[in-house]
Amino acid sequence: MHNIHDQRLLILDFGSQYTQLIARRVRESGVYCEIHPFDIPDHFIHTFNPHGVILSGGPETVTAGETPRIPAAILDLDKPILGICYGMQALASQLGGQVSSSNQREFGHANIHALADSVLLDALTLAPGNDVDVWMSHGDKVSRLPPEFVATAGTTSAPIAAMEHTSKPIFGVQFHPEVTHTRLGGELLAKFSKNICGCAGEWTAANIVEDAINQVRAQVGADEVLLGLSGGVDSSVVAALLSRAIGDKLTCIFVDNGLLRKAERSEVEAAFSATSGVGNALPLNLVTIAAEEEFMSRLNGVADPEEKRKIIGNTFIDVFEREAKAIGSGVKWLAQGTIYPDVIESAASKYGKAHVIKSHHNVGGLPERMDLALVEPLRELFKDEVRQIGLHLGLPKSLVYRHPFPGPGLGVRILGEVSKNAADVLREADHIFISELRNADLYDQVSQAFAVYLPVKSVGVVGDARRYEHVIALRAVETVDFMTARSARLPYEFIELVSNRIINEISSISRVVYDISSKPPATIEWE
Ligand code: XMP
Repeated sequence: MHNIHDQRLLILDFGSQYTQLIARRVRESGVYCEIHPFDIPDHFIHTFNPHGVILSGGPETVTAGETPRIPAAILDLDKPILGICYGMQALASQLGGQVSSSNQREFGHANIHALADSVLLDALTLAPGNDVDVWMSHGDKVSRLPPEFVATAGTTSAPIAAMEHTSKPIFGVQFHPEVTHTRLGGELLAKFSKNICGCAGEWTAANIVEDAINQVRAQVGADEVLLGLSGGVDSSVVAALLSRAIGDKLTCIFVDNGLLRKAERSEVEAAFSATSGVGNALPLNLVTIAAEEEFMSRLNGVADPEEKRKIIGNTFIDVFEREAKAIGSGVKWLAQGTIYPDVIESAASKYGKAHVIKSHHNVGGLPERMDLALVEPLRELFKDEVRQIGLHLGLPKSLVYRHPFPGPGLGVRILGEVSKNAADVLREADHIFISELRNADLYDQVSQAFAVYLPVKSVGVVGDARRYEHVIALRAVETVDFMTARSARLPYEFIELVSNRIINEISSISRVVYDISSKPPATIEWE
């Protein structure tokens, strides 16, 4: 097989909130693509040598002087170009047309009608007399076409809602094909990526796995590799992938810090055991470190959330480093589950944008401390791709589609001081909530759900006895990116059922509440 990265698209980011979605849709069509800032240097563009270019939307206006422009090297490439929203406006303005500010922002569903035949818009089933629903989000609009362009679609408020060159493969769409509200928008991007740019569509789970295995083998040779396995999706997929690639040269360290969910340790051990999990076909060295007492004693008497996070992080590093050294001095590599959104966000910040660099995958400077080089086999994958290859590698669905779980675990879900007793109670309550969500087929409908242990006492009556015990809060949220979220509208009967079970089955809980706060202003976690 030739290199699956050879046929690729370049997505130039003009700052749209949807840029990553464009890339995900293109990848879903089986075509590899990368996102880079709009102002990348010319030599990068030439070395990258894309089969086609997509220009993203963005918050600026081309009617002002100092706003982002398409690099001349892109326009001179002689490869297909698709401009979306701001990308279309930049094309129109730079190729000799005109863009006008409109004081009326068009946001939401819009109906487009065909103005001319278009190979690209065929994908939307757009034809004369057959209007289709698309998603708009813009203020400016193209008011005059550049020379040699035709308008291919319009809406009532944007007469030029799509345009294309009469002889070259240059297209612009004012609407957003990447969002699901644009029906068949994914088809449009697939049509551009495959038919128009000529990419065969080799970016599939099977090929990605094969390619990643080859890359890891080339990178680490016969060296030993260490992985901190948390049981989360990313590190689990790294474990499965590396064990395929290098077999018993991989050692996974799983730290049981006493702040895990119920049965988490046994689930991870089962998923990677030699008899029941992916380990079935592959030898996987899994070392579980029982470190509950060490974590609990260091957390003793500490109530401040940030202080707790720091202690948990540092203790993890100490335990990991100690065990890693005990396992072998020959280890040269540390594997990490860094994924593509982390890479994009870190890179974008170099260009002066106010992005927050996520460092949670880089466990507290461990690579430097232990003098280990990094292996990051998921660096170019989106989360949905990580899940696909996880399934392909034989990981159980329950693990691959698991809700995220914070690094400090139950440590930030027991408010205030952490104790083993509180962790045990919370584990039971959380387990009741999560298993009932699964029973009711609600688990996959919420993005994250969990229980929180509140260190307040509340009065209750059980039978004839007065009970004065703790409170559990239930939290379930719906979110796309975890930056904003709203509380899930779970059925009342369901919440009541969970509440009854928790109060009846756990004697040290007298009351259950449901958290309906949105993020912002609240956060998802309570600490
Ligand atoms: P918040 O509470 O900030 O959470 O709204 C957003 C997402 O991040 C997770 N989270 C963490 N993950 N270490 C992590 O690895 C942490 O310290 C941490 N704090 C929050 C949270 O579970 C949610 O998915």
